[in-house]
Amino acid sequence: MAALVFPVPVKLPNGALGNQPSGPIFLGEIVRTQISSSALSRAAFVAVLLVGCRQQPSPAAAGTVPSMEMVDRRDPARVAEAAVRSAFPAGWRFTAGTPATFAEHAMAVSMSKYASEAGVEIMKAGGNAVDAAVATGFALAVTYPSAGNIGGGGFMVIRMADGRTATLDYREVAPLAATRNMYIGADGKLTKKSTVGYLASGVPGSVAGMAEALRKYGTMPLANVMAPAIRLAEEGYVTDSGSGGRRGGNCSALIAQFEGKDLFCPGGQALKGGTRFVQRDLARTLKLIAAQGPTAFYEGAIADSLVADEQRGGGIITKEDLRRYTPVWRTPIQSTYRGYTLITMPPSSSGGITVSETLNILENFAPLPPTGSAAYAHLIAEALRRSFTDRNEKLGDPQFVKVPIDALTDKAYARSLAAQIDRAHASKTPAFSVGHEGDNTTHYSVVDASGNAVATTTTLNGGYGSGVWIRGGGFFMNNEMDDFAAQPGTPNMFGLVQGEANAVQPGKRMLSAMSPTIVLDPQGQLLLVTGAAGGPTIITTTMEIILNVIEQHMTLADAMRAPRLHHQALPDQLDYEPNGLTVAVQDSLKAMGHTLGTRGLATANSIMRVRGGLDGVGEPRSGGAAVGY
Ligand code: DON
Repeated sequence: MAALVFPVPVKLPNGALGNQPSGPIFLGEIVRTQISSSALSRAAFVAVLLVGCRQQPSPAAAGTVPSMEMVDRRDPARVAEAAVRSAFPAGWRFTAGTPATFAEHAMAVSMSKYASEAGVEIMKAGGNAVDAAVATGFALAVTYPSAGNIGGGGFMVIRMADGRTATLDYREVAPLAATRNMYIGADGKLTKKSTVGYLASGVPGSVAGMAEALRKYGTMPLANVMAPAIRLAEEGYVTDSGSGGRRGGNCSALIAQFEGKDLFCPGGQALKGGTRFVQRDLARTLKLIAAQGPTAFYEGAIADSLVADEQRGGGIITKEDLRRYTPVWRTPIQSTYRGYTLITMPPSSSGGITVSETLNILENFAPLPPTGSAAYAHLIAEALRRSFTDRNEKLGDPQFVKVPIDALTDKAYARSLAAQIDRAHASKTPAFSVGHEGDNTTHYSVVDASGNAVATTTTLNGGYGSGVWIRGGGFFMNNEMDDFAAQPGTPNMFGLVQGEANAVQPGKRMLSAMSPTIVLDPQGQLLLVTGAAGGPTIITTTMEIILNVIEQHMTLADAMRAPRLHHQALPDQLDYEPNGLTVAVQDSLKAMGHTLGTRGLATANSIMRVRGGLDGVGEPRSGGAAVGY
């Protein structure tokens, strides 16, 4: 493999390395230093930017990927400068150049400071990244109850420092009594039962999944890694009223309908920020799991409470459903982008295939124009249009449908899709045989002092899932059944229109967009651990962070703060974050034929290896927390 521009050593203009002890091996400080350098170099950077915007790379003929040499000739600092200038327009909510959290040894980044601290506590006690990820996962169930969970499911990507890789699927499954049309009313229309209440839940996988990851790759007993979560539930933690109360202070109409109301809505009001929040039922549940293992959840006292609650509320999850639940180790999707390797999640998540397919298409246009330019947004939209069309039509649980993983991640196939892209005009999403796919999920990334890495995304689907809170159990149940095509052809809560491959069937896993991903540099060393929450925008956000780092040479902090784009084939619309594209870029995109929309885009938590340690960046849009040592 030819050496790539990133991370080759780059001359520092003045040696200044900012406030990180050893300075990143990568480009952040370099870029910042150069941004403030002479007018001459500024003019050069603007020239690069203009070249990037106006003179797009020549269209790739089918079968031709630009040579590495062509890519190598770019000066990474200038690319980053141009990308940052273009990506952070006036009026954008974040500024470029914000430092990441730096740690010399190990790092955990999640949506809860307490959960990230739990991971770091375990690593300081000698645990590895998997021990820490499981500690973080259970602590999120306590301190980020809108999405952290034991009543949901998730996906974990592991890359051990010795090179072993693994992906664990602990997605929920449809109960045995589920039927294809269970969410369609007598009038033939979709009901709300796939999103609210007892029928919305799949059989939870989180407890079995976390225990299985620990069994195979961890080093500590379950009780040890669960200790921080149990402490947080039993002794309480101080709630945060920010971010819609997802860290405990929420009393939504959804929650108020079910048994969680007494705890989350005392006196009919949300807990105020700054309240110490104790969850006794959840503490008891966690202690049972710590003492007896997942059997407590799937066959013991917790299963009893769960099934009794299901029966009271008209749910269909039975003891047999719980007893049969099994997490599945799957062969990781391993794809490449310009010499970097992605290790990511195969079905039952669509995330890995769709991220890989999109990057494979974009590789044909490398070097890409700067982030934030019309040319870049157009290419992103056109690539996503094609990969999401495949996703929505062809993907489902591999136990039930034949998923063409190799074909969809094949470079030649991507070249043929790239060759269809007109550089000046938007195409239209083709009609496809539809057959159908949730608001709160959470991603966390962990790297330990040995370089073992874990990327995990877990979810209840919607915020607080179905709203059902298991009496006595003390936890919320998911509404993951809405990720099935509840009525093939009808958009789900994220507007995704999907195919028959993802129709409801008993025992089947509903298709996910979760995309936990680990990226290795061209030398095979750990570079990036990332992933996101946000329904289908998970896929695009994860991919854009990777592109910002690899292709645009941004620091992790800038890569996370840059405005995001999204296209999911249907609706045929390119979404951007408010103020994330200049008016001129919006006009150019409209002139190319794109329909534009705005939306908030995803919640990511990432770690990047830098010189002398690790940079961690929690989601700046909603207060993620990076903790390291
Ligand atoms: O698995 C999925 O793709 C969805 N259940 C994820 C939902 C989600 O990310 C909501 N986010 N904030």
